Amino acid sequence: MTARIAGIGAYVPETIVTNDDLAKIVETSDEWISSRTGIRERRISTKEGTSDLAAEAARRALEAAGVKPEELDLIILGTSSPDCNYPSGACEVQAKIGAVNAAAFDISAACSGFIFAMNIVQGFFKSGIYQTALIIGAETLSKVVDWDDRSTCVLFGDGAGAAVLKNEESGIIDMLMGSDGTKGEALKCTSRSLGNFLTGERPELGFMTMDGQEVFRFAVKRVPESIESLIKRNQTAKEDIRYYILHQANERIVEAVARRLKEPMDKFPMIIEKYGNTSTASIPLLLDDMVKKGMLKAGDKIILSGFGAGMTWGAVLLEW
Ligand code: UT7
Repeated sequence: MTARIAGIGAYVPETIVTNDDLAKIVETSDEWISSRTGIRERRISTKEGTSDLAAEAARRALEAAGVKPEELDLIILGTSSPDCNYPSGACEVQAKIGAVNAAAFDISAACSGFIFAMNIVQGFFKSGIYQTALIIGAETLSKVVDWDDRSTCVLFGDGAGAAVLKNEESGIIDMLMGSDGTKGEALKCTSRSLGNFLTGERPELGFMTMDGQEVFRFAVKRVPESIESLIKRNQTAKEDIRYYILHQANERIVEAVARRLKEPMDKFPMIIEKYGNTSTASIPLLLDDMVKKGMLKAGDKIILSGFGAGMTWGAVLLEW
């Protein structure tokens, strides 16, 4: 038995912020942003929190799967911009959608969160503990970026994507995940828990900081390596892989990975132009877009691949 994606859903806030809009706030230009990243616009949440976006994506995924909220055994939300430290965003989603029988918790694996959540569910399914799960990637990174820092604020966007997973005969073939905590400084956002009893220092809300080039180098090395290893250990031919669905951080990263894998760009769909980097939401947002466009057929072999802060990375080989 293995995890199969039974339904995908996505939701983005309605406010669109273009590169030209950002050029009014920081010293940047549409030309710089689009040529360096492929991003033209992003969605920004002004009214909704991460759990609101997550709950709406979840409702859509449940509808697509034909699964009722009370049938869910488990809800895992991957996020690095939760509304609260606790309760978890997953518990908030549980309450919003009425998934009364589910255990719910968040995971912190940044942009790899959706892939890590899938790995965790697979463990529960393989051991026979649960049969039906909801995984969500949701972010309101607009609330943690420093809007005075042009090197990060132009990159990110808000959104959510969700998948209902069922324990079935076919679906996920193999998966892997990895972490390198020694590179943690490359992409960081401190939390509110930095108060000090002795000095009286009060916690301050931290902003995201990033060494973009370090993250870029890490991604173009780790992503192809992990995909190659997944392909090799499953004796799969690259010709049999229909699509590589990569975390949408930068169009140039996707192109570099395609070059390293010696695979054509038409196997690498992208949505970064419309949404920017939505961190852990980017893979399910892209999957949802592909489903709506009828790009995925039953039996297609695809690879999902995420990477992000931690540093973390993960990949999944599955049959649609
Ligand atoms: O989800 C995972 C997390 N993040 C990532 O995957 C990001 C990975 N890294 C990247 O995508 C790229 O490194 C960036 C898009 C962040 C930056 O692109 P780059 O080609 O590495 O640019 P750079 O950092 O080398 O900066 C080049 C120049 C600098 O100016 P000088 O020193 O050459 O005069 C920057 O100050 O571009 C400047 N710059 C900007 N200019 C206009 C940096 N940000 C901006 C901006 N607008 N927004």
